[in-house]
Parts: sequence; structure tokens; C-alpha cells
Amino acid sequence: MFSQLPTPTLDPILSLSVAYRNDARADKVDLGIGVYKNSQGETPIMEAIVQAQKIVAETQTTKAYVGLAGCEEFNQSMIDLLLSGTSAMDRVAAIQTPGASGALRMLGDLMAVAQPNTTIWLSNPSYVNHKPVMEAAGLKVKYYRYFSPETKQVDLDAMMADLATAGKDDVVLLHGCCHNPTGADIDFATWQAITALSQKNGFTPFVDIAYQGFGDGLEQDAQGLRYMADNVEEMLITTSCSKNFGLYRERTGAAIVVGQNQKEVANAKGKLLTLARSTYTMPPDHGAALVKTILQSDALTHTWKQELAQMQQRLVSLRTQLCQTLRNDFQTSQFDFIEQHKGMFTVLGFTQEQMARLREEYAIYGVGDGRINIAGLTEKHVPYVAKAIFDVAQQD
Ligand code: LMR
Repeated sequence: MFSQLPTPTLDPILSLSVAYRNDARADKVDLGIGVYKNSQGETPIMEAIVQAQKIVAETQTTKAYVGLAGCEEFNQSMIDLLLSGTSAMDRVAAIQTPGASGALRMLGDLMAVAQPNTTIWLSNPSYVNHKPVMEAAGLKVKYYRYFSPETKQVDLDAMMADLATAGKDDVVLLHGCCHNPTGADIDFATWQAITALSQKNGFTPFVDIAYQGFGDGLEQDAQGLRYMADNVEEMLITTSCSKNFGLYRERTGAAIVVGQNQKEVANAKGKLLTLARSTYTMPPDHGAALVKTILQSDALTHTWKQELAQMQQRLVSLRTQLCQTLRNDFQTSQFDFIEQHKGMFTVLGFTQEQMARLREEYAIYGVGDGRINIAGLTEKHVPYVAKAIFDVAQQD
């Protein structure tokens, strides 16, 4: 049976992590996978999580099954964090999922059942796992133009022109904030314009918001999504606690559906539960139990929000330091866009060959599409990384 299998193509992000781990060079820098590191280069457990773990360890009395939807209080917390204050609160349902990739797959499967001829539109470029997940769910995938390699910002005209051709069988996937991989976000006026287009042409918006809190802040990062949820009849949302609660390995996320009325979202949730049953049955509980514990405690919520805000501010500061070093030490403003990008990632505009040179000559690991993870930098690395970026840019 296995002899028929072709050699698999490895995921570019996960295979990079393996290559980094196997690199013996002492000065190596991991700017690959989207994981936050502190100034010591570590990814510590957040203090709010440490405290919640103690509470859960002391108070949890059973490991019996929770249920297909996971923890319903967690699900409600995710809805509150994202949609609080919108009219969608009366016509929304959520299930807990194994991370946001699990949520993407569940919603992909839901679309394939609810509207079998769905085409899902992804930004060009988009998160590397969007296309494989949506194709595995049996959906057709199309791309809309998004990023301008010249300006390193969103190509608004091109994006709106492409989205204007999406119709009622189409679903348009948007990044809620901190666009992965580019770091270039759409502004509020563009959220309004896409909402108007959806109302006019009938496509369904799908918002993947895996980095809430890392752009401009917890509330600001949800503004576009909230406006949209307030103004469209149907919408799909995936969210993650990997980054903003630092729960990467616990695989904690949610799939959320907004519908026209409660009856329709109850049906959508019911279908999601049968899909979950035939895929993984129930999501892992630990991460959701911790998030629930934090969000049900004012004191822990306060601690968590402070920690998240500190991480967000540090990312802004690292972006500034990198740009300043490039400006002051190398007299180049070529990379000033890094300071305007949001969240963990930035696309440098480097070719695959230039990214390979960064890796081979400088032991700096960024993704082949030119993405670097600013959250993987430490203050100590900034001069070295700035020099490497400058050198590699010069060589071409
Ligand atoms: C990333 O984009 O680096 C993260 O979302 C990790 C992943 O699962 O790909």
C-alpha cells in the first residue's frame, strides 16, 4: 500500500523549524515559525496561565469527557472577546477546536456540506496552511491580489477589483489583523468597503483572526471584524489562543458562525458537531480550561491583558529598533516598511534565493516566501540581523 505514496512535500514553516533545530551554529536566529520570544529568546508560559494552571490543578476533580463542542464557557468567552457589543451576539454559535487550523478545517468541511460549489478566495499571499486545509475540505481555492511587492503595503485597488468579481457562491477569507505572512493590514475604511461589497454581491466573509492583541491591541484588532459582523447576514470566523495566550502546544481555538437567526446558527453548530465527531470527536480540554479560568477572573484577566499589551509593545519596539539600525548604521530607508507592518510577521520582499542566503550564510531562518517573524528576534540580535538583511539586499 505505502509503495504507491509519492515523497511528501513538507510544510515550509514546520520543515524550517526542524532545519533550525538541527543547525549546530551557535549564532543561529529563528525567525521562522510564529512563536513569541522574550528578550532572553525564550517562550515562557504567561503568568496568567501559570496561575490558571494552579487553579485548574487544585479544583479539577475529573478527567471525564467534556463534549463535542468542548467547553461551552470557553466558547462564549471567545465570542465575547471578538464580537462583544455587536448585533451578531444574538445570532452566533461557536465550537472549541484543536487550534485555529482545526477551526479552519471544521469550517471548510461545513462550507463543503452547506454549499458544495463554494469557491474560497484567499489573499495572495496568505497563511501557508489556508490552501491545503481548504482543498482538503474539497473547496475550490482562488486568490485575490493583496500585497504590493513595490510598496510593501496592501494593493487596495487591485484587491477591491478582484473582490468585486466574487459572487454568492464565494467565500472571501480575510485576516482579522496582523496579516500572515505580510504584516500589511487593511484599515477600517477597507473593512467597511469589503462589507459593502459583500452586501451588494452576496459573497460570505470568513475572518481568520489568530493574532488578536498583537497588532494595535485586543479591542482595536477586532474593530474591522466587529463592523462586518454587525452588517452582514452570515459570516465565518476562526480564532486561536496559541499566540495571545501563548498556548501553542495545547491546540486551543474556536470556529464561530454568525447567521441570519438563532435557528440557522443552531443548525450550523449541530453540523459542526457531527463533523467534529467524525474527525477528532472532541477537542483537547486543558488549554480551554485555562483560558476559561482566566477570563472568568477579573484579576487574572487583568494580568493577561497586561502581559499581552507588553508583548504587543515589544513587537512595535523591535520593529523600530530594526529600522533604526538599518537607517543609522547602513544609511538605508529601504526597509522602513517593517515599522508600518503589524503583528509578528513582515515580508522582506526577498527572493527564495535571498532567504536561502540568509539561512546558509548568516544562520538566520526566515520562511522561503520572504517572511520573517519579528517576535523571534531579541534586542541582542538586532544589529546582526540588520547587517545580514542589508548585505543580502546589496548582493542582488
Ligand atoms: C505560523 O504561521 O508560523 C504559525 O501560525 C504556525 C503554524 O501553525 O503554521
